[in-house]
Amino acid sequence: MSESSPLLEVKKISKRFGGVHALEDVDFRLYPGEVVALAGDNGAGKSTLTKIISGVFPPDSGEISFQGVQISLANPQDARARGIETIYQDLALADNLDVGANVFLGREPMTRRFGLPMIDRKRMREEAAKTLDTLDIGLDRLDRPVRALSGGQRQCVAIGRALHWQAQVMIMDEPTAALGVPEQRKVLALIKSLKARGVGIVFISHNLHDIFAASDRIVVLRRGINAGERATVDANPDEIVRMMVG
Ligand SMILES: Nc1ncnc2c1ncn2[C@@H]1O[C@H](COP(=O)(O)OP(=O)(O)OP(=O)(O)O)[C@@H](O)[C@H]1O
Ligand SMILES: [Mg+2]
Repeated sequence: MSESSPLLEVKKISKRFGGVHALEDVDFRLYPGEVVALAGDNGAGKSTLTKIISGVFPPDSGEISFQGVQISLANPQDARARGIETIYQDLALADNLDVGANVFLGREPMTRRFGLPMIDRKRMREEAAKTLDTLDIGLDRLDRPVRALSGGQRQCVAIGRALHWQAQVMIMDEPTAALGVPEQRKVLALIKSLKARGVGIVFISHNLHDIFAASDRIVVLRRGINAGERATVDANPDEIVRMMVG
């Protein structure tokens, strides 16, 4: 794959819910190491587009290509196995498990003790610690249940998990919405570090400040159609808002 070919490409995607055209003939591209912000008013179709890319449901029509090959995604596990990870605000961390166990959720390493297969908790914590260290995520203890973590720390664990499993595409739907300012900064810094590793990132936010701080390109959806896109350096917030409301 050459530098200039998209990591992910979506062509003429449409999706209806009953009478609602959630998406109509939407095209979308994401390149390696690029952060694309999806902007749009409530109900514009942002989450629907990301759910199609992450295998939550299939489009009614249109094509998805990943690393130059046309694919269909049966379910979110299928997307994850290909390296397409999604991070939601109140994401699927298991509250009662510790950080290490959450990084390995569903993919736990096994060991044997007294001849019996057991989950290798020590190895999970050690490897989780390594990954979180490379991201400079300062969690002092990995043996606490994640229920004891703040929203931002949980977000960091989810990002660490995606990175640990070599995500190529990271979809973040409102990752900073419920966070305090220092935690928002941490998540934005993590986005930069993923980008530097060549991960392509789809970033949804209602916060124009975050969009301008984090993205390389802004794609605007309006009532299910692609209302235009801009390189972030060439865009200004007023123009983006005008594109959003039409
Ligand atoms: N599972 C569903 N069933 C029925 N209608 C849906 C479903 N998901 C989305 N829709 C409808 O599709 C349209 C697009 O919704 P979507 O959630 O993609 O918008 P959004 O841009 O993410 O909005 P928000 O900024 O509020 O999150 C809306 O009209 C919504 O009501
Ligand atoms: Mg949404």
